[in-house]
Amino acid sequence: MKTYSMKEIDNELYLGKFRLSDLAKEYKTPLYVYDELGINNKIDIFKKSFISDSFITTIVYASKAFLAPYLCKLLENKGLSIDAVSIGDLLLLKQAKFPMERVIFHGNNKSIEELNLCLDLNVKYIVIDSLRELKRLDILTQEKKIKCNTLFRVNPGIEAHTHEFIQTSLLDSKFGESINDSLIFEKIVDIYKHSPYLFLKGFHAHIGSQINVSSSFGKEVEVLLDFIEMFQKVNGYNVRVLDIGGGFGIKYLDTDTPLDLEETLQNVVKIVENKMKTRGLFIEELLIEPGRSIVGDSGITLYTCGGSKQTFSKKNLCIVDGGMADNIRPALYRANYSVDIANRVNGSEKYVYDVVGKYCESGDIIARNVILGKVKDKDIIVTHSTGAYCYSMSSNYNGSLRPAVIFVKDDKVKEAIKRETYEDLAKTYIF
Ligand SMILES: Cc1ncc(COP(=O)(O)O)c(C=O)c1O
Repeated sequence: MKTYSMKEIDNELYLGKFRLSDLAKEYKTPLYVYDELGINNKIDIFKKSFISDSFITTIVYASKAFLAPYLCKLLENKGLSIDAVSIGDLLLLKQAKFPMERVIFHGNNKSIEELNLCLDLNVKYIVIDSLRELKRLDILTQEKKIKCNTLFRVNPGIEAHTHEFIQTSLLDSKFGESINDSLIFEKIVDIYKHSPYLFLKGFHAHIGSQINVSSSFGKEVEVLLDFIEMFQKVNGYNVRVLDIGGGFGIKYLDTDTPLDLEETLQNVVKIVENKMKTRGLFIEELLIEPGRSIVGDSGITLYTCGGSKQTFSKKNLCIVDGGMADNIRPALYRANYSVDIANRVNGSEKYVYDVVGKYCESGDIIARNVILGKVKDKDIIVTHSTGAYCYSMSSNYNGSLRPAVIFVKDDKVKEAIKRETYEDLAKTYIF
């Protein structure tokens, strides 16, 4: 799956004015490369389709997919908000001068330090995950005498059509409090009613990731609005904000059926507008939290091939100079990718390869059963659609260094994150 502005010229892949193989030579491999026009284009689709005359629509980029200061600037200029889940995220956003009134803080086990920093930085909403956390924040806001707008994460119990590891709304999920647990909501409401500092603006849910079935989102919104209606009646509370999370799927393989993003977003907005007309609901702000769908299919990884090998069982292996340390997704949930030889897209003979990494695990397989021309030592191998949950989940496994990240736009290259050095690694060791 090529990115928005990737082209094939004379059997080689280009991004903007740059041959991918030249970028690989200059910036070394493994290398993450983002197509900036692709990200801009995706954001424009979100902005055009997620809009209403009846309430504010807010697009919160889920930074766990990938975060870098350069991306913060791009998102800020496009008017997006960002979610953060750690002190590291918050400090990066602060240093990048991202407006804190556009930051939402998540997490299912927020530390006292994290909550304190959120209060000090005055983020827009803290999304409370549990009664336990609400009690903790209640004490902190009293001590600091700081007011705090919150959303409360609920679990609507919706089975999204995706891998079990990225479903987040099953009944035994660790996230949020179940909408069916009326007793817990009595206690939650009691805390809000007695606190002069804590404000319950609304509810949040996130049903999973890489969801390619539009109706899952429609169902989620219906269930959440029914819950809000009931909650308002029982507790005499006005709920003004609904955040339905992210999870919008992207196309990884040619055989994937992609989510119709425009239709999904328009449908979600329509459901909320219609229910506001027919029910006692008054939603002022509707939020979504896309991560993967903003950056996933605009990012690629370049590797240098170390040659090929055929196993005794006749499996062809294309061996690259990266692997599970820069892309854990295949090992984590058997994700698969489409792959090309960037410097020779169409070879005359075709072979079926598994693209394998260099790390000491049998599961270190980047892509299975991909059809490529005959691979050679020093070929530049490109894995498509690695913009989400690859750099952000990368590791130093086997003493590897996290790769550099560059953004390409027309004839410009911006290095957004430097390649780690052995000195960086050594800084944390005690010799
Ligand atoms: C609370 C929350 N919001 C948003 C997202 C982003 O999901 P995605 O990248 O699939 O859009 C996640 C991802 O796990 C999440 O946990």
